[in-house]
Amino acid sequence: MVSTFPNPAVDLSRIRLSIRSLQPQLIEWRRRLHQQPELGFQEKLTAEFVSHKLQEWGIEHQTGIAQTGIVATIKGNKLSTTKVLAIRADMDALPIQELNEVPYRSQHDGVMHACGHDGHTAIALGTAYYLNQHREDFAGAVKMIFQPAEEGPGGAKPMIETGVLKNPDVDAIIGLHLWNNLPLGTVGVRSGALMAAVESFECKILGKGGHGAMPHQTIDSVVVAAQIVNALQTIVARNVNPIDSAVVTVGELHAGTRRNVIADTARMSGTVRYFNPAFEGFFKQRIEQIVRGICQSYGASYDLEYSSLYPPVINDAGMAELVRSVAEDVIETPVGIVPECQTMGGEDMSFFLQEVPGCYFFLGSANPDKDLAYPHHHPRFDFDETALAMGVEIFVRCVEKFFNY
Ligand code: NI
Repeated sequence: MVSTFPNPAVDLSRIRLSIRSLQPQLIEWRRRLHQQPELGFQEKLTAEFVSHKLQEWGIEHQTGIAQTGIVATIKGNKLSTTKVLAIRADMDALPIQELNEVPYRSQHDGVMHACGHDGHTAIALGTAYYLNQHREDFAGAVKMIFQPAEEGPGGAKPMIETGVLKNPDVDAIIGLHLWNNLPLGTVGVRSGALMAAVESFECKILGKGGHGAMPHQTIDSVVVAAQIVNALQTIVARNVNPIDSAVVTVGELHAGTRRNVIADTARMSGTVRYFNPAFEGFFKQRIEQIVRGICQSYGASYDLEYSSLYPPVINDAGMAELVRSVAEDVIETPVGIVPECQTMGGEDMSFFLQEVPGCYFFLGSANPDKDLAYPHHHPRFDFDETALAMGVEIFVRCVEKFFNY
């Protein structure tokens, strides 16, 4: 996937000197965070580190928001304006045992920053540091949101519920994800849907067990489950407009204990993804219809649990254009802007984007020449740290441009 995109030469000279000079600190902070990864809502050391830095720089902030979240406010001195731009970074790691043999490898057994959120936190810190040092360069206020638990169960929603977008009220929000599906020197940004809604289901089929040679005395949960798995595939194939993208995946199917025993129970679980917000509620209803109908026709019963986890990530056209124009300046080459960067992966940045217009974008971070191209959530995931200063530069320029609009 990576090699299908052009790999423009990465020229750090486009990044202003004062941000380039932050690069050693950005790397140091990122590696420090990488060594002490923490799972969602357990980001204690991470939050302490962030808070300590903000305090050291004299940046006003609140800790303990939605357990481990932090919000810092940096007011510009340039002109009096009431506009507020939020910048969001997620801080949590994953339950993965790191296989990288690097000096900064995870020191927490079974936990790893395998998605790059250590980099997001470092970029947000660098942005806060720079903006605080250059308050005279921008008007308005910037709210830095350090969010817990993006990987689940989700920290964005509880942060919004505590009022992080209020007082002062946030007008717009931006955020980025370091992205190993794109090479270093590219930015994936687009208006509209960027990432998919995430829903999930768990289903138990309750049949009647018996002897494998006497099926007429049973209700075979394996046969019922097999029909359901097949029928679920018809939702995308036959009920969704082919112009729309959607996925129904059954990722788990468990039944039975022995070859000649008919299983009384089968369990399956799966995930549903889609871009179009109009599908909200649709898959839940359709899956329930299919499970109910098939179980009924075979005399089985069922227990279905359906959860809507994250809505789709939908970018505002104006904010996407702001990020695109800034990114084009930073990476210097229009070939590095990748609008075809949609993914069916999900992100709880979507909750912020439901509240205020904004733009979430991907910052290319893969570098196959340095063996830094493993996919996200892989035990060997790592990214090219050159992207860190690029991330800060894009955020800083977005702030300056946003308040000059
Ligand atoms: Ni992530």
